[in-house]
Amino acid sequence: MIRAVIFDLDGVIVSTDEFHFRAWKRVADEEGIPFTRQNNERLRGVSRMESLEIMLERAARKYSQAGKVAMAERKNGYYRELLKDLTPADILPGVLPVLDDLRKRGIKLAIGSSSKNAGPILKAIGMETAFDVVVDGTHITQSKPDPEVFAKAGVSLGVPPGQCLVVEDADAGVEAGLAAGMPVLAVGFAAAHPNATLKARSLAEITVEEMLRVDTREVS
Ligand code: BG6
Ligand code: MG
Repeated sequence: MIRAVIFDLDGVIVSTDEFHFRAWKRVADEEGIPFTRQNNERLRGVSRMESLEIMLERAARKYSQAGKVAMAERKNGYYRELLKDLTPADILPGVLPVLDDLRKRGIKLAIGSSSKNAGPILKAIGMETAFDVVVDGTHITQSKPDPEVFAKAGVSLGVPPGQCLVVEDADAGVEAGLAAGMPVLAVGFAAAHPNATLKARSLAEITVEEMLRVDTREVS
């Protein structure tokens, strides 16, 4: 029986995944590094510095550690500029009705995000009190696909892993959820992941009944 749902933030709750892409693309263009939307899919769910390393795989030259840190900070500056325009209108389709329905059924709700910007994002979209627990990039040492972020959220909620459903849009996040011993609903890009427990194009295209019907014996 599912007693808690742990949501990824960027690309699941709010459309900030597009802002991450635009900010990385701006840095890549400035550096003359080829970077496409397709390349960007591998950056979903992974930390800022790991995202940078993936982007630099196509760079023609090597960068020093200090150069890399400066580049990651530059990307975050561009990203934060884009976040200034973030409003509740950026909440993704289906999110609010699903949260409302889950809450009415007594299901606990959490965020499990790799982002260090989760706090300001939740505030900007008016959802700073919508979740019982928020575990984000400021609380973890290992980024997805490591299970740390979801394991911590489960412990904070007081719900065993097999009774927590993870919702993810990133392959790395699907792997993190499964590694934590949790069933995973994969949405968007991650819906192509072969090991996802459940799949949907978005939260607008799955019912809460379908989410909660998942057979937890498969993963616990
Ligand atoms: C994840 C995003 O939620 O957060 C990644 O999917 C991003 O694309 C990561 O790199 C870290 O985000 P931030 O806000 O700490 O740079
Ligand atoms: Mg995501």
